[in-house]
Amino acid sequence: MTEPAIERVLFTEEQIHARIREVAAEISAKYAGRELKLIGVLKGSIFFLTALARHISVPVRIDLLAISSFGKGAPGVVRIAKDLDDPIGGEDVLLVEDIVDTGLTTRYLLQTLSARGPRSLGLCTLLDRTIRRLIQVPIEFRCFEIPDRFVVGFGLDYKQLYRNLGYIAVLKRDS
Ligand code: IMP
Repeated sequence: MTEPAIERVLFTEEQIHARIREVAAEISAKYAGRELKLIGVLKGSIFFLTALARHISVPVRIDLLAISSFGKGAPGVVRIAKDLDDPIGGEDVLLVEDIVDTGLTTRYLLQTLSARGPRSLGLCTLLDRTIRRLIQVPIEFRCFEIPDRFVVGFGLDYKQLYRNLGYIAVLKRDS
């Protein structure tokens, strides 16, 4: 059963978990023999982060930050609303995003984190909508490329709803 506001399902729960396992294996191979800090961005990426972390085989630490944007008039202008709990200096850090769209938010986060002196800083995203990219960002691990439609589910929201859907879906245009 899908929600009435859903136009079509892009990725089922099974497809998402299968792909996350593959990406987690790539991450485990890359960081073999090291410890990894996963940094999630509230609230959207926490569903992806927890699913991913369960399948990573190297020791993992988790920290979270929250950002707030200045609204539609200033796209990509964001600030940190809740900072990380701990420093990241000298650590292998992987930024875990729900979606990279224009790339503006991700660029800001990568610049901010890189200024804190991690040993390495990588980027992993659940969804990649390259067609809307304004700023090139170095995505090292990604689960799915998506078309130019607004999507919800598996952490992604519309007006704070639908984050808890197990699947990822296109919302009806009139929702
Ligand atoms: P950016 O354009 O890459 O800076 O992405 C900004 C933020 O917009 C993302 O982190 C998401 O929180 C949100 N966003 C972008 N596209 C979608 C979507 O299709 N569904 C839900 N949220 C989205």
